[in-house]
Amino acid sequence: MVKLTLAALALAAAPAMAQQSAWGQCGGQGWSGATTCYSNPYYSQCIPGSNTQPTRTTTTTRAPTTTTNPSTGGGSGTLDGRIKAKGKKYWGNILDYNTINNSAVTNVLRTEFGQVTAENSMKWDATEPNRGQFSWTNADKVVAWAQQNGKLVRGHTLVWHAQLPQWVQNISDRNTLTSVLQNHITTVMTRYKGKVYAWDVLNEILNEDGSLRRSVFSNVLGEDFVGIAFRAARAADPNAKLYINDYNLDSASYSKTVGMANQVKKWISQGIPIDGIGSQAHLGVGMGANAQGALTTLANSGVKEVAITELDIQNAGSTDYANVAKACLNVSKCVGITSWGVRDTDSWRGASNAVCLFDGNLNKKQGYYGAFNALA
Ligand SMILES: *[C@@H]1O[C@H](CO)[C@@H](O)[C@H](O)[C@H]1NC(C)=O
Ligand SMILES: *[C@@H]1O[C@H](CO)[C@@H](O)[C@H](O)[C@H]1NC(C)=O
Ligand SMILES: *[C@@H]1O[C@H](CO)[C@@H](O)[C@H](O)[C@H]1NC(C)=O
Repeated sequence: MVKLTLAALALAAAPAMAQQSAWGQCGGQGWSGATTCYSNPYYSQCIPGSNTQPTRTTTTTRAPTTTTNPSTGGGSGTLDGRIKAKGKKYWGNILDYNTINNSAVTNVLRTEFGQVTAENSMKWDATEPNRGQFSWTNADKVVAWAQQNGKLVRGHTLVWHAQLPQWVQNISDRNTLTSVLQNHITTVMTRYKGKVYAWDVLNEILNEDGSLRRSVFSNVLGEDFVGIAFRAARAADPNAKLYINDYNLDSASYSKTVGMANQVKKWISQGIPIDGIGSQAHLGVGMGANAQGALTTLANSGVKEVAITELDIQNAGSTDYANVAKACLNVSKCVGITSWGVRDTDSWRGASNAVCLFDGNLNKKQGYYGAFNALA
């Protein structure tokens, strides 16, 4: 999911919960709730493809250099240090063009977090706005920062029905869409080959009942786009972990959680190279308690690993954050947690939802201490 500040979303949360077991997006097949769209210059929740990112330029500049300094963060006084001490790979957070030149934010990232995800700049509308015309400026900056600071990168995301340019949505021919998918995946992954720990190859492809969401990909290719995408990804960077990522995978028995596990189990049995399931985990109050059960259901699909990929929790309570941290510790396949926003003021859910670990002044909140102590 994801993007920048969407204050209106807070207002949508309550009605949305009547439709779904959990907080979620509006729109999509079967959706009977609000159709109001929440949008800003970067993202629109219901109308795919209408966003326009600033500072987008097509360029042929070099990929970032590969200098890797030792991480300056870590240690037992940080979330990342603590989760690593428990055998996990990272506690990460997002970084993008809107925060990368804010040294207060990057200092916290450098110290507390071991992994970064670009909030927007690796999405299709940012990387290939026109067919065959790639744009790397902002994605390169995020990857370069990660390399310079010794952080892992999660690549987000190669195939998604939203923030998808109109030229892709317009394709109605099977062969064209197949080659467009393969070319997009191959080109983006090749640019960052060896620098991205894991890629969200597919994002949000399921409905709430676990069936395939309607999108240009499923409309034109049926289920085949799943194999096409993962096989292209494996070929492009054989060492990257390949993920399927989605939201509302937050309780063990919810139809989408069970559906995701069943679909992935089937796809793996067909030889499709899926390594991991990412659970976005945009949570409401009290939902942290379900995290361990949900991760267990996902892990039992037969994937090699699972991860919490976009964590933010309404009100950021100590208990909720502690429960999510413990859930990852207790599920052996869970490799790490990525928070979706450093400061409340940068959260796509809006500052008033107070979902982040740090407030607008970068003070640690109760949720931070809850997670920190849970990782002791
Ligand atoms: C940070 O980057 C943005 C986008 O590139 C730019 O608009 C802004 O002026 C920069 N801010 C500072 C303080 O450099
Ligand atoms: C997409 O299709 C619509 C309707 O045929 C057309 O008006 C529009 O120009 C197309 N856009 C692109 C980018 O191909
Ligand atoms: C999960 O971890 C917590 C804290 O270490 C522990 O109290 C709890 O028993 C664990 N649960 C399981 C199922 O392992």
